[in-house]
Amino acid sequence: MIMTLLLVGAAYLLGSVSSAIIVCRLMGLPDPRTEGSNNPGATNVLRIGGKKAAAITLLGDSLKGLLPMLVGHLFGVGPEGLALIGVAAFVGHLYPVFFGFRGGKGVATALGVQIGLYWPIGLTVAAIWLFIAKVMRISSLSALISMALAPVIVWLFWPEPALVAAQILISLLLFWRHRSNIRKLLDGTEGRLGLDSTRQE
Ligand code: G3P
Repeated sequence: MIMTLLLVGAAYLLGSVSSAIIVCRLMGLPDPRTEGSNNPGATNVLRIGGKKAAAITLLGDSLKGLLPMLVGHLFGVGPEGLALIGVAAFVGHLYPVFFGFRGGKGVATALGVQIGLYWPIGLTVAAIWLFIAKVMRISSLSALISMALAPVIVWLFWPEPALVAAQILISLLLFWRHRSNIRKLLDGTEGRLGLDSTRQE
């Protein structure tokens, strides 16, 4: 119990480390919170800093979700504890204590949590994301569709109520954070990958 609570706290703190802001600072790029979509996430870093910066951001944000889950497994934490750890890492990314509680939209961190929980879950969600992205070339739409399906995917691979409930919460929060994207999708103004960028070399 103590171990689980410690891991939940550590997951929140790790989730609060914004890869996008740090990568942009280190690479001399503009602050992702005030450029492009104003979102500190890999898609916006792709817009303002190109593929290399975006890939590092994606990796960093995924690891924030993946590592706490792996440590949870290592210490034999059960499904309820793993659910709390995953939500804590995700909430850390959305509402980071180190950055005034103004974080990102959580797609990469949620994927890291899913891969760390049970890799077939993460791979299935990632494959859906990639398929939609390849066909539609819209990052937010890929995220919304793959994360809308994620609770069903968790239920199929690991039908544990706490884990499914945690994924429903994560997906709902992710939809909430994509409000502006949903509005743009509905009025047809959402940017497409590779077309709305300033630098994607
Ligand atoms: O991962 C976030 C993505 O779904 C949307 O990002 O920058 O287009 O709002 P952005």
